[in-house]
Amino acid sequence: MKRKTRNRIILTTLLVAAAAILIGGTVALILTAGTWKVKMQESREKVCDKGWECSGSKYCCNDTITDFFKVYQFENLFAKRNSPVAHAVGFWDYQAFITAAALFEPLGFCTTGGKQMQMMELCAFLGHVGSKTSCGYGVATGGPTAWGLCYNHEMSPKEDYCDKTNLQYPCVEGAEYYGRGAIPVFWNYNYGAAGDGIHEDLLHHPEYLEQNATMAFMAAMWRWMTPMKKKQPSAHDVFVGNWKPTKNDTLAKRLPGFGATMNVLYGDQICGKGYIDDMNVIISHYQYYLDLMGVGREHSGDNRDCAEQAAFNPSYKKPDDQQQQS
Ligand SMILES: *[C@@H]1O[C@H](CO)[C@@H](O)[C@H](O)[C@H]1NC(C)=O
Ligand SMILES: *[C@@H]1O[C@H](CO)[C@@H](O)[C@H](O)[C@H]1NC(C)=O
Ligand SMILES: *[C@@H]1O[C@H](CO)[C@@H](O)[C@H](O)[C@H]1NC(C)=O
Repeated sequence: MKRKTRNRIILTTLLVAAAAILIGGTVALILTAGTWKVKMQESREKVCDKGWECSGSKYCCNDTITDFFKVYQFENLFAKRNSPVAHAVGFWDYQAFITAAALFEPLGFCTTGGKQMQMMELCAFLGHVGSKTSCGYGVATGGPTAWGLCYNHEMSPKEDYCDKTNLQYPCVEGAEYYGRGAIPVFWNYNYGAAGDGIHEDLLHHPEYLEQNATMAFMAAMWRWMTPMKKKQPSAHDVFVGNWKPTKNDTLAKRLPGFGATMNVLYGDQICGKGYIDDMNVIISHYQYYLDLMGVGREHSGDNRDCAEQAAFNPSYKKPDDQQQQS
């Protein structure tokens, strides 16, 4: 009896000790793994405090846009924008672009990857800008690609672009929400969201985007850098390779590259319709700029069109809606 009890006590003690060692070991292991993971993350996300007016971001280590994109190149890309027949003579300039870009470079805008990727992203972004502001359709010399930044606003609005059902960004009396800017903004809710993004009251003052080229570029860069919906990639993400397609994406033929930037920005207005002119003209601008920048159109990257991609955000109601509804 006595010995039995003693044995039981010894056994229990042993078991408890074993359990303690097991649990302790696991906890230690988890802790070590945790620190290791944090360390890995830290080394991957190296923070830089030197270099151009940028600190506390991993992108600050890299070149800025001004290192590879100079005034003469801007003039070259948008050579006809100040010709007498253009519609925004004297509006767009290099300095406005650089000033606006300074806000987004610390977030990775044209500062991600090596120099080639940086230049490709610049050409991709400007490809959208150029094609959306070109007036070179029809008979103009040089074709559409030579006429980027010809407009800064929509000339004859077909409607008032006021969605009265939107309560978050209700239309302001007297304000008009036709297309304006470098990647034109349409509709009250898009002006509201872009205004929040660049900290300007665009809902009350949509006209800012045709009065101030810095703001026009800022709104376009904000659009490029910002996902339209939570859990979706931005145009920037799909272009520079930050985005990994899910199985659903792959099934919908959405893959990283220039094509997916059109998908993010315009959805089923441009994508999933085959090789339509509206898509081809955007690609032409992108490639024209790649050539002019000395990168060369052979470096357009994979998946450069979206002819067969299903839209990230199919548009159900407004066929004219150029941007997001969120
Ligand atoms: C900075 O540039 C280098 C190559 O020049 C590149 O490998 C690196 O990924 C870039 N950093 C970031 C944060 O993109
Ligand atoms: C244009 O907008 C920028 C950014 O808000 C501002 O700094 C600048 O002063 C504005 N320019 C003019 C001429 O109002
Ligand atoms: C994938 O697609 C299917 C069918 O369209 C849909 O039901 C499902 O919710 C999607 N899954 C994700 C994670 O989006």
